Amino acid sequence: MSTRAKTVITYGTFDLFHVGHVRLLERARSLGDRLIVAVSEDSFNEGKGKKSYSSYADRSQLVAACRHVDLVIPELTWEQKREDIIAHNVDIFVMGDDWQGKFDFLNDICEVVYLSRTPEISSSLIKSHLKNPATPAVA
Ligand code: CTP
Repeated sequence: MSTRAKTVITYGTFDLFHVGHVRLLERARSLGDRLIVAVSEDSFNEGKGKKSYSSYADRSQLVAACRHVDLVIPELTWEQKREDIIAHNVDIFVMGDDWQGKFDFLNDICEVVYLSRTPEISSSLIKSHLKNPATPAVA
């Protein structure tokens, strides 16, 4: 009897790639056999009023170099998730628990899982610490 490989997908900006990102990707990958990461495009972030330090090209290259990641795709819109899940035969949709409950509407086509965030680190925190070293490096 053969069972189909399980595909997991997650979304994010992944700016200033840090250990919180690696731990999220490692745990997401361990839920299945293949991990797809949709990295937010610069235009998508601009629409949200968010400016990353690294370009989409650099952020996606860094995420793709992580051994837990099998495929990187661009995230261009809020609405693409349903299409991505169907196009890539995704079984499990993963987000950090800062998004708890926000994507439950995808439950009709896949399993939705929220993973706890690694405490005391974020891209924003690194940026503010580098800008003003007097602020704490951890939350
Ligand atoms: N993440 C995590 N633990 C952290 C930081 C991020 O598990 N300490 C997860 C997020 O929940 C998300 C993914 O990593 O699922 C990508 O998060 P992203 O928003 O790019 O990272 P942050 O460091 O939270 O960035 P920002 O400070 O700009 O919000």
